[in-house]
Amino acid sequence: MSTTEAKQSPMKLKLRVLHVIRLVISTVARFFFSLYYGTEGVKISEITDDILKQPAVEVARRIRNKEITSVEVLETCIRRIKDVNSALNCFVEDRFELALKEAREADELVRNGTMTPEQLEKEKPFLGVPFTTKDCMSVKGLHHTSGVVLRKDVIADRDADVIRLLKEKGAILIGLTNVPELCMWWESHNHIYGRTKNPYNTTRIVGGSSGGEGAIQAAAGSIFGVGSDIGGSIRMPAFFNGIFGHKPSKFIVSNDGQYPPPVTDLRNSFLGTGPMTRHAVDLKPLLGIMAGENSTKLKLDQPVDITKLKVYYQVSNNAPLTDPVDPDIVTAMKQVATFLERQHNIKIEEKNIKLLKKSMPIWMTTMKEETTFEKYIMTKAGVGNIIKEIFKNIIGCSGNTLIGLLTALSDRSGAQYGTEEYNYYLKLRDQLEKEFTDMLGDDGVFLFPTHPTPAPYHNEPLVRAFNFSYTAIINCLGMPATTVPLGLGREGLPIGIQIVSNHNNDRLCLTVAEELDRAFGGWVEPQKS
Ligand SMILES: *[C@@H]1O[C@H](CO)[C@@H](O)[C@H](O)[C@H]1NC(C)=O
Ligand SMILES: *[C@@H]1O[C@H](CO)[C@@H](O)[C@H](O)[C@H]1NC(C)=O
Ligand SMILES: *[C@@H]1O[C@H](CO)[C@@H](O)[C@H](O)[C@H]1NC(C)=O
Repeated sequence: MSTTEAKQSPMKLKLRVLHVIRLVISTVARFFFSLYYGTEGVKISEITDDILKQPAVEVARRIRNKEITSVEVLETCIRRIKDVNSALNCFVEDRFELALKEAREADELVRNGTMTPEQLEKEKPFLGVPFTTKDCMSVKGLHHTSGVVLRKDVIADRDADVIRLLKEKGAILIGLTNVPELCMWWESHNHIYGRTKNPYNTTRIVGGSSGGEGAIQAAAGSIFGVGSDIGGSIRMPAFFNGIFGHKPSKFIVSNDGQYPPPVTDLRNSFLGTGPMTRHAVDLKPLLGIMAGENSTKLKLDQPVDITKLKVYYQVSNNAPLTDPVDPDIVTAMKQVATFLERQHNIKIEEKNIKLLKKSMPIWMTTMKEETTFEKYIMTKAGVGNIIKEIFKNIIGCSGNTLIGLLTALSDRSGAQYGTEEYNYYLKLRDQLEKEFTDMLGDDGVFLFPTHPTPAPYHNEPLVRAFNFSYTAIINCLGMPATTVPLGLGREGLPIGIQIVSNHNNDRLCLTVAEELDRAFGGWVEPQKS
């Protein structure tokens, strides 16, 4: 043992011991999970309709050029949803009738020549294109539960800003997809709609909170999706389901109409509402629409010269209590670096940003608000009531999920909103943001794992709770980040990375995502895995 190690502080030693204990628990748990789920698993059917494999921009082009009707596209989506949903349980509420009416109107607008195809492309670029969104997003006339049993009968009376903006540009909403209880976990399971399963292997999770959306996009049940992300809720499901997902820069896309609403400005800066797609080429145009009047701040039309970018990468955050990054992911990331270096003559620099080690406590602490978690999911607050619900959960008669209750307990522990410790972590956050801003400047992108492992088994996130720190820390920085799929790993599950750029430089990470989609093949059809 070296002298420096011998001199380690008791705190460090404690962390080490905890780390080993966690490793043992997660390894033993994996063994039992594999025994439990090993022989299970349902295959979904092949995608037979070519239109479902096309980018949204291409579907839109075909509709306005009368090569296909919106009604045909919509009916194809509805068939596909019905086909896969018994296996995946990702789609929770439909508006098929209303959507069909809107599709007929879209077709009528194309047919009667009120607008030329050029006019349509400009004013209604997604005319007739069906999409889906998660059940925490307000959509007039549909349920708005956010997976909370107390809200199972809540019906929204208006459309969230993003939904309204997309509808104005011609897109047609088909329905809602599943989320975790209060959208606050990375596994999509709740006691209203149950558990959503991964299209690549139904024994595995889809991630959360936009988990139903990740699954339906991977399975090609809708042409594009809308998610939201406060700790990785777009990027993790995109990663686990092998699609693209973009969390925009802070304060660009309106977070209006989401439950729970971000109460503080800081929390609003963490939350990003953005697109989830099978094709990278759809991300920029969709983001442009979702940003409304703020889209000019992103200069999305300004061409990006990839050869002029500075590229940085880091393969691990080296944080205690998180898994080592899967070798498949490390390899894929290095392949991306090599590709960019060789193909575009870019200099790549490996980083070791020390503060990333503190990702989890920074996120956990700065996420704290005056309203505690339990007040959203229970009628009566208090530790006693949480414990009571945990017992009820064990015997199968609580409306709350176990993880929801454990989150409520953990929300009560640790540093609270406004305390000295809270302010300490706020300072660390500021420091890290400065470090990132200085590094990225106006021409930098940062490659980083989205998550250390491919999709674990259902329930397994309980013993790997902190693995989501890779996405969460980027929320704290308010920076844009795109998840890019990079094929399937050795277990036949999707792998990939995220690409981060500086505030309002979304076009940089989106351009790199488009380039990697072309070079690495992007989304892989699930049944071909
Ligand atoms: C799904 O995962 C299980 C457990 O790892 C495995 O036995 C099974 O072969 C996988 N199924 C597919 C379709 O890859
Ligand atoms: C064309 O169809 C649209 C959508 O149904 C309708 O609003 C518009 O009035 C129609 N225009 C003409 C000239 O019929
Ligand atoms: C534009 O950004 C501001 C905050 O910077 C936000 O309040 C507003 O809702 C955004 N507008 C849209 C259309 O998203």
